[in-house]
Amino acid sequence: MCGIVAAVAQRDVAPLLIAGLKALEYRGYDSAGLAVLEGGQVRRVRAKGKVREMEALYLADPLPGSTGIAHTRWATHGVPNEVNAHPHMIGRVTIVHNGIIENYASLRTELQSKGYVFTSETDTEVMAALIEVNLSKGMKLREAVLATVRELEGAYAIAVISRDEPGRVVGARRGAPLLVGVGIGEHFLGSDAQALIQVTNKIIYLDDDDVVEITRENAKIYTLDGNAVERAMHESELSADAVERGEYRHYMQKEIFEQPRAVSDTLEARINAQGVLPNIFGVNGDELLAKVKGLHIIACGTSYHAGMVAKYWIEEYARLPVSVEVASEYRYREAVVPEGTLFIAISQSGETADTLAAMRESRRRGYLGTLAICNVPESSVVREADLKLMTRAGPEIGVASTKAFTTQLSALALLTLHLAKQRGLDTARYNDLCAQLLHMPRSIDDALKLEPQIIELAERFVHRHHALFLGRGAHYPVALEGSLKLKEISYIHAEAYPAGELKHGPLALVDEDMPVIAVAPNGPLLDKLKSNLQEVRARGGELIVFADTTAHIDGNATRGVILRIDAGGEFIAPAVFTVPLQLLAYHVAVLRGTDVDQPRNLAKSVTVE
Ligand code: G6P
Repeated sequence: MCGIVAAVAQRDVAPLLIAGLKALEYRGYDSAGLAVLEGGQVRRVRAKGKVREMEALYLADPLPGSTGIAHTRWATHGVPNEVNAHPHMIGRVTIVHNGIIENYASLRTELQSKGYVFTSETDTEVMAALIEVNLSKGMKLREAVLATVRELEGAYAIAVISRDEPGRVVGARRGAPLLVGVGIGEHFLGSDAQALIQVTNKIIYLDDDDVVEITRENAKIYTLDGNAVERAMHESELSADAVERGEYRHYMQKEIFEQPRAVSDTLEARINAQGVLPNIFGVNGDELLAKVKGLHIIACGTSYHAGMVAKYWIEEYARLPVSVEVASEYRYREAVVPEGTLFIAISQSGETADTLAAMRESRRRGYLGTLAICNVPESSVVREADLKLMTRAGPEIGVASTKAFTTQLSALALLTLHLAKQRGLDTARYNDLCAQLLHMPRSIDDALKLEPQIIELAERFVHRHHALFLGRGAHYPVALEGSLKLKEISYIHAEAYPAGELKHGPLALVDEDMPVIAVAPNGPLLDKLKSNLQEVRARGGELIVFADTTAHIDGNATRGVILRIDAGGEFIAPAVFTVPLQLLAYHVAVLRGTDVDQPRNLAKSVTVE
């Protein structure tokens, strides 16, 4: 989704802005641009496509200057092209914007009647015109931005410069992320800390409805009513290395292989052989969790699949009712909230617009409290939750989520165990589950060793158009996650079904051209799954089975491929079985030559509705 970088420095800012945009590429975008203010003039360069294409134009005709704003755009209003790319300019004003202005159509009509002419289809240009109108009334840029954002409905993060006010950038946010980077004699704005880590690790996170004015010397923050306000400065723990690709061909591959470490970091100092440690969910967390009578889990995409696995776990081991729903549905319906229900938001980024809005909506629905499971400590979701359990995956750059998922499962497994113990789960069973969870990093490491076999397997998919994934129980969401990975990055149409549903529809699609991928852990549902596999086999379907080493599945009888995995126990099997599915999607995408880390049309952090 759109990325913003801005700078007021003592040096030429364009190279810094371009480096910042490159660090934001992971968010997903389809055009890029930057503008530099120098000597009372603003010059800009914009291009459809990658940052490097815009950079090539810049290098051919550099823009010197020490104040600038830059942007990667993920199209919402208007197709991806140069005219719709940011920055947008009207009169004295140049602006970049992330988000969607919901009342832009009426504002645009009103401005057109006043003689403003718009060259793009974007809602952003409307904001530029509004700011220009306010400047013409004699306001300074900061006042003009304040007056403008008060009129807006929707979500935005913006950075604005005025031709008449050198050495100054004004930013504002509501519902989309924006933070301030504090350098020595220079200040920056960025969509996340990664965009700025090359210039500073001193970060001020803005609150919703903050407006900020940066100059070389200062970063002054104001609330919507124009009062000055202080926000705390943090030292980001990100290192520039954390966002390097190293020896790996793609970030996604690197992140798949980082999973043993990421999972072990997420478990560290939170569980030992005796069990889950107290107070890992934050102040008064244990007391609040003891009162829980049920849970509503809300998330999007891969995080939603993690929530689906947790439903199976928590209902089985803690015997509490759980409902799981995608945030975009939950926020607009009148969900019934029984007394004592805990609201859980799962989000890698902590900035997904639908998840954040659902969490805000939950406040008026009478929950016992909110728990955030998230990977970004300073994100909006974490800041607004009562309780939090951070995943410690480190920055995830590939748009297709991998280590975020397995670390979310690790955090949800800790929650399951905590709730189960509070509700009197049998000690022997509890101890066994803890031992399994502690073993998860090693089991994932073993699963990664299947890569050579999966590379061979991937060949079978290169010319396929469809694939069907099957799983049962907690492995149905694993099948969903496997199919999501495949479609996201290889563009092969993939669907997932609970294996028992096969005969109610999808079996009609099975023939020799339809690969069927089945996840077959050992457990009470194995025999049922085997019967489902027979149904596929009888129709000539090509079966690819990921089976537990302890599951008795006859390799010859599958008439397809069988890969054996030692899941290390029924409880942690969903996390372990996800790994070969990630690798399969990755290698199929590599063979098909797609843009693995930035698949078409997708964004990493979806900060618009
Ligand atoms: C986007 C990303 C997915 C991610 C989803 C939810 O669609 O491409 O990888 O799972 O958003 O993101 P979140 O940050 O809330 O987990």
